[in-house]
Amino acid sequence: MENTFAIIKPDAVKAGYSGKIIDRIEHEGFTILGMKKVQLTKAQVEHFYAIHKARSFFGEMVDFMLSGPVIIMVLQRENAIKAWRDLMGATDPAKAEPNTLRKLYGANVGSNATHGSDAPETAREEVAYFFPELA
Ligand code: RTP
Ligand code: MG
Repeated sequence: MENTFAIIKPDAVKAGYSGKIIDRIEHEGFTILGMKKVQLTKAQVEHFYAIHKARSFFGEMVDFMLSGPVIIMVLQRENAIKAWRDLMGATDPAKAEPNTLRKLYGANVGSNATHGSDAPETAREEVAYFFPELA
């Protein structure tokens, strides 16, 4: 079993897609170990996306992540990291496979509905940062 960190981003929460996304998560065999609806702080978002600090879209991305509440989760499954990234689909919803969450619920590369950890090390860090009680 593996754990990964997931976010339902502000666009999807605002649009009322949280329930559909959570339903899909359970249908695809993930166990939700932790889940909270929170308004992230600027410090949390800047820490979380620190790896992208030098990129041109950093400021826009931070503003987007602060634009409303998000749902943060720890998901458990066999191969959870890859399984969750596969379920989300490509970063750009226009390039995402049919029936993936980003294809169904994302609008564009900035407003793309969900986040998922990209590797075991980042999954551990992200879980520990947002859910220290589950680390
Ligand atoms: P995430 O971290 O949110 O799960 O997304 P990801 O791994 O699929 O993509 P990543 O490369 O980590 O990029 C993080 C977020 O940056 C935004 N982005 N905008 N305007 C652009 O060209 C651009 N490229 C990336 C996306 O919102 C992406 O989720
Ligand atoms: Mg990423």
